[in-house]
Amino acid sequence: MAQSRKDDHIRLAAAQQDQLTGAKNAFDDVDFIHHALAGINDDAVDISTRIGPWRLAAPIYINGMTGGTDMATPINTALAQAAAATGVPMASGSVAVALEQPETATSFTVIREHNPNGIVWANLGAGRNLDHAKAAVDLLNADGLQIHLNPIQETVMPEGSRNFSDWLRLIDDIVAKINVPLIIKEVGFGLSAKTVQQLTDMGVRIVDVAGTGGTNFARIENDRTPHPSSAIDAHAKWDWLESMGLTAIDCLLDLAETPQPEDLTIMASGGVRNPLDVVRAQALGAKAVGMAGQMLKVALSDGAEGVTEVLELFTTRIRQIYALLGATNLDAIIYETDLMITGRSAERARARNID
Ligand code: FNR
Repeated sequence: MAQSRKDDHIRLAAAQQDQLTGAKNAFDDVDFIHHALAGINDDAVDISTRIGPWRLAAPIYINGMTGGTDMATPINTALAQAAAATGVPMASGSVAVALEQPETATSFTVIREHNPNGIVWANLGAGRNLDHAKAAVDLLNADGLQIHLNPIQETVMPEGSRNFSDWLRLIDDIVAKINVPLIIKEVGFGLSAKTVQQLTDMGVRIVDVAGTGGTNFARIENDRTPHPSSAIDAHAKWDWLESMGLTAIDCLLDLAETPQPEDLTIMASGGVRNPLDVVRAQALGAKAVGMAGQMLKVALSDGAEGVTEVLELFTTRIRQIYALLGATNLDAIIYETDLMITGRSAERARARNID
């Protein structure tokens, strides 16, 4: 059951990427005001960043996707080889399946095997306990652990859990006792400032807002169920939930409005299409920016070489955008560039501020 679900996720997420090519999303609401004389020499640019304990040469990472099925092994291998070649951090998909079915572990362990010295994050859903968290980290000899909050996905998923009542308590216990840095993320519906506040109150210090606009798990789960054959079946679908959630831009604007602990690292992902989206998110407070669906698509079509090439292109282009904007480093992107926020993102930011 879990294996066929994971295969469906890979297949449908890759198909979604084809529909997303060229699509507009909330990142288009964020524009740098163009100053034609601001530019500097790209040799003078440093695009390195710090997230938690890690120093990254470029502000990008491969977000958590897969494992637990035969289809996942070559994908994780390709992604891990590209991560090793570029130094870009990589997260696994949820390791839960390997904890229950150890025979599937290889589809995850290839991630460490092909990237022995890189930054690897294990991934687990909320609702798992400290022992699960430790086992997930041990399996990959991981440097950190991502825990995903996916209540919308669980609600729509036919075999999903609808009991979310333990999540806070279990995360609280893991935060207190796990011996690697913890990253809490969504799976593409966004983390509000209120959610981040609940997390930081427990001691969480790294979050990935993982917003809407890219891979849409409500749509993936809807597409897994057969097309409705009757007027009644049509009501069993959850297509009206596909538009729920916050974009990464909503989340970053929401977080910027509220005081955060000084040592909180905010990362952003969800619908990141190109290097400009990376820098847009950085200007709004993200220290690093993740991509999932896009990387899956390249891994499937062009393997490790393709993913390596795309990650290298992103790195070069990010540096070139910094130079164009006159920013020698991330601080300059945050404090010295001028932004305009328009469209739906501006409207939604205003709506959030009306109490
Ligand atoms: C995911 N994502 C995900 N996230 C997570 O924390 N654990 C997981 O097991 C998975 N599984 C998974 C499978 C596949 C095939 C995809 C494409 C994605 C979600 C992912 O990390 C990310 O939050 C979203 O995909 C949004 O980012 P993109 O795809 O728009 O860049």
